[in-house]
Amino acid sequence: MKSDNNRHDIFFHAAQNMEELANSSVDLVITSPPYPMIEMWDEILGKQNPMIPIALKTDNPRLAFELMHQELDKVWSECWRVMKEGAFLCINIGDATRTVNGEFALYNNNTRIISSCEKIGFTNLPNILWRKATNAPNKFMGSGMLPCGAYVTLEHEWILIFRKGSKRTYKTATEKKERRESSFFWEERNIWFSDVWELKGVKQKIDKSPTRERNASFPLELPYRLINMFSQRGDVVLDPFVGLGTTTIAAILSERNSIGYEIDLKLKGIIEKNIETIDIDCANQSIRDRYLRHIEFIDERLSTKKEIKHFNERIGCKVMTGQESDLVFHFIKEISKDLSKLQYLTYEVEYYEDLPLTEIPFREENILFACR
Ligand SMILES: C[S@@+](CC[C@H](N)C(=O)[O-])C[C@H]1O[C@@H](n2cnc3c(N)ncnc32)[C@H](O)[C@@H]1O
Repeated sequence: MKSDNNRHDIFFHAAQNMEELANSSVDLVITSPPYPMIEMWDEILGKQNPMIPIALKTDNPRLAFELMHQELDKVWSECWRVMKEGAFLCINIGDATRTVNGEFALYNNNTRIISSCEKIGFTNLPNILWRKATNAPNKFMGSGMLPCGAYVTLEHEWILIFRKGSKRTYKTATEKKERRESSFFWEERNIWFSDVWELKGVKQKIDKSPTRERNASFPLELPYRLINMFSQRGDVVLDPFVGLGTTTIAAILSERNSIGYEIDLKLKGIIEKNIETIDIDCANQSIRDRYLRHIEFIDERLSTKKEIKHFNERIGCKVMTGQESDLVFHFIKEISKDLSKLQYLTYEVEYYEDLPLTEIPFREENILFACR
């Protein structure tokens, strides 16, 4: 592998033991585990502890909830081991509602994860509420228009944010340079660092497949934002519950390395297809679209006679702050598979050193991530 190429590995076994990873080797974790007490995940969590199906069958939902979380806790502890000091852990999770033995109740996954991650030693930082709008008329639960018998509907999920230890430090000149080149635009910061995100859920692509039924991908924009917010170029991003490989693809678009773990071997072929059918032109347009949206923002500001003091020579446009003046995009040249690895998947991604933005084919519509 060329030293400046990025690498993406996906291992197929339980993430409770990430034996391939050294202590303190990961810069960022982004993940979405199976959601305890959401029925679609009963089977896969049940296989990890045979007491879980027994607890469910014997109408002991609180015990099942606790046992499911104990399996996730082992993964959070393993994340702690492999994460570097100052690294972030971002966990997308939804709470669950369920009726067991005639009793309807909320199973609060987010608070259970926060308390266990705090026990491990992580610091919880302001979390993001991901509002998933739904207009389905049948979404309400309970006694219709009559009081006291209805429940509010869950229309959000959480992105819980933790850090291991104190703030990351940037010591060498290279680290400082990579950090500046990985900056984001001022107007992106204003959206990304809000604690409420309004992102559409993912359209189910492989509706009829048995594995797809058990898979709930997050939208590509979600890991893409988090990667850009909490890591820099060349970093290692880990997803211990990689599913269909969305985090891997976001890492490819962001010039990071990545590692994924997936317990379900049936997903291997789907992940392979997802990565190997990435249309490079399309991916590069998605990267370039950030620039186009920035230009729109700048033009709008200039049209209202607002001042913009700074200039980014690398991409040839005005920027709001001096911190954005080294921001640069590198476009994907080639994604290749390492065929010598049979037990796991390994891809290498090469980027153009200096391909100008103008060389990326133009498309009229805003296709950010829509072309997959
Ligand atoms: C919510 S899905 C993740 C979806 C993913 N974010 C995506 O966009 O495709 C959770 C995934 O974790 C996997 N999984 C469950 N338990 C696991 C474990 N102990 N280790 C690794 N993967 C596991 C499931 O098979 C499932 O694919």
